[in-house]
Amino acid sequence: MAIIDSLNRPLHDLRISLIDRCNFRCPYCMPSEKFHHAYQFLDKDRWLSFDEIVRLAKIFVGLGGRKLRLTGGEPLLRPEIDRLVRQLAAVEGIEDLALTTNGSMLSLWAARLKAAGLHRLTVSLDTLDESVFYRMNGEKAALKEVLDGLRAAEQAGFKAININAVIQRGVNDHTILDLVRYFRGTPHTLRFIEYMDVGNQNHWDDTQVVPSSEIISMINAEFPLRKIGGTQDGGTSEIFCFKDGEGEVAFISSVTKAFCGTCRRLRLSADGKLYTCLFATRGTDLGGPLRKGASDEILGGIIRQVWTGRDDRYSETRYKLRHGPQALPKVEMYQIGG
Ligand code: GTP
Ligand code: 5AD
Ligand code: SF4
Ligand code: SF4
Repeated sequence: MAIIDSLNRPLHDLRISLIDRCNFRCPYCMPSEKFHHAYQFLDKDRWLSFDEIVRLAKIFVGLGGRKLRLTGGEPLLRPEIDRLVRQLAAVEGIEDLALTTNGSMLSLWAARLKAAGLHRLTVSLDTLDESVFYRMNGEKAALKEVLDGLRAAEQAGFKAININAVIQRGVNDHTILDLVRYFRGTPHTLRFIEYMDVGNQNHWDDTQVVPSSEIISMINAEFPLRKIGGTQDGGTSEIFCFKDGEGEVAFISSVTKAFCGTCRRLRLSADGKLYTCLFATRGTDLGGPLRKGASDEILGGIIRQVWTGRDDRYSETRYKLRHGPQALPKVEMYQIGG
């Protein structure tokens, strides 16, 4: 039985950030003015080692957790990531092992990740317009690198890949239907994500958010849709199929239709801090006690205490929290991988 938080939500997913660095500089996550060549990321010796991560994953399973997602920054920058995947895939009780990547290095890694036992992949791809794509990644990578990466993933045997597209009004909303046409008829699920106020760097305001309802109407007018699944089982997306049988699209509507009520995700940063919400203002150090020799019981006790005390529901209370007296700095996306 999984442990339950103070709002009756079971612990189910652990999102593990493997590194706080990224080879992209998406303005909505790591704007290059701030994350320049002199920016101090975590020293490598602060990263949890593979053995430390595997140990924590086993403790997580002991508390009822079942699903792992590897994130970053960009997780494929973590040296020898396939070795970690192999170790995690062998942990008894893990039912789902997934990874979220910007896709630019997938050509190199896809086959090795598949061979190591990774179950599922999510690739971020906000647009198919080359110049918009280049701008949206901070002028770091060409669209072709990600499309080649996706092809390599398909060839490696990843069957249904999630494609994440963050939509910002006035930036890439005019390219939505091109994405739909490209992925329609494939086994992949294109997922539109409402632009969120994660972290403290992206100068978010709600005029830049394109509500999912608007995107659904736009797609539905050209390709009729039928809803087939929601967030009630703890996922982040509402899923629709094309009525003509040409596959699925999904929507992650954290701004206009919050899904905190069923949120069962715990996050671990690369240096071993636990965060109970994507918008958390503080974490709990697990890496420190681990390195000082804490037993599995003590570490499990810390996770239990953090989870049972959890009452986060930021997206449901966004406007009050943003403007209220509690408007403290939040953890950054690149530290916990979304
Ligand atoms: P599945 O395992 O397939 O359900 O994927 P996922 O949606 O958990 O993972 P992914 O890394 O692809 O995240 C998709 C988007 O949803 C990202 O923009 C995340 O930041 C966002 N997201 C994931 N979890 C949460 C959450 O708990 N709250 C909010 N508000 N957004 C989330
Ligand atoms: N709003 C919504 N999604 C975001 N992502 C990164 N920053 C934001 C934001 N501000 C997405 C990435 C990736 C996923 C893990 O989170 O594009 O697909
Ligand atoms: Fe962009 Fe993801 Fe890198 Fe952030 S971590 S800069 S969203 S690719
Ligand atoms: Fe979960 Fe926090 Fe996202 Fe709500 S805002 S779904 S509590 S991570």
